[in-house]
Amino acid sequence: MKKKVFITRKPPEHVLKYLQERFIVDYWDEEDIEIPRKELVNKVPQTDGLLCLLTEKIDEEVLENGTNLKVISNLAVGYNNIELEKATSREIMVTNTPGVLTETTADLTFALLLATSRRLIEASNSLREGNWQTWSPMYMTGMDVYGSTLGIIGLGEIGAAVARRAKGFNMKLLYNSRNPKPDLEAELDIEYTDLDTLLQTSDFVCILTPLTQETKNFITLKQLKKMKKSAVLVNTARGGIVNEADLIQALSEGDIWGAGLDVFEQEPIDVNHPLLQFPNVVTLPHIGSASIQTRTKMWELAAKNLTEALEGKIPSNLVN
Ligand code: DGY
Repeated sequence: MKKKVFITRKPPEHVLKYLQERFIVDYWDEEDIEIPRKELVNKVPQTDGLLCLLTEKIDEEVLENGTNLKVISNLAVGYNNIELEKATSREIMVTNTPGVLTETTADLTFALLLATSRRLIEASNSLREGNWQTWSPMYMTGMDVYGSTLGIIGLGEIGAAVARRAKGFNMKLLYNSRNPKPDLEAELDIEYTDLDTLLQTSDFVCILTPLTQETKNFITLKQLKKMKKSAVLVNTARGGIVNEADLIQALSEGDIWGAGLDVFEQEPIDVNHPLLQFPNVVTLPHIGSASIQTRTKMWELAAKNLTEALEGKIPSNLVN
């Protein structure tokens, strides 16, 4: 008998076809609207394989309703939306989509670093609002990137890809992560430092570590105050790693020069949120991996992981 699959968003046609050739497929037929929680909870009891997005919380309630669930395939590299230990204790496989989004997310991270340091959004808005009176020596001046020091927190695949880009900007590279990575140190000419040294000496600090119990609120006011007043913080990993209330305070008090944020504690962030009021904060709607090519590859990989698991194989990107 064919196994049943539920997808929490409308997939591309070719991915849908691939899955329909193998399974009985049901899906939430919307591209830009999140599946209501109730609908998700009602769907899981009839599901062997769930393909879900990072916006869906896969918690005890979903898991206990998913009595037939064998695999949860997340359309993201991060899987903090899934209660992993609980899934594991129910012998449900969890998979993610690493690799395919590395370079695209590194591009966006570097773009955000540049946009924040050179005030691109603010300058563009200023021009459109009619404030460009004349060329002025100090109008819209920002911070130099070339030759500066970049501190990377979390030297995984994306962190390393950002470091490779930074080399082209002649940046001095520092990193902090759970374990030193000697192979990457040699390849990238990047130096392991303790967190305090990284914060104190970097002109740019990029957060590229997954959100876990360990990294929740990793950056609070205490850490922000250690950064240079001229420094820029960039977060393209997950909201929650940087404490937002503390970041607002640090920005208000001039403890750091600016921030580039693609991720927030609450997504979508409220349009009246204080973080959106700072001219020196560039805010994006969680688009790190958002290229047509990469999002397509993520769909394909998520479908492949799901298929492998339901066909009795060990999926390529099993995380538990
Ligand atoms: C991920 O994959 O975890 C990103 O946040 C979305 O691409």
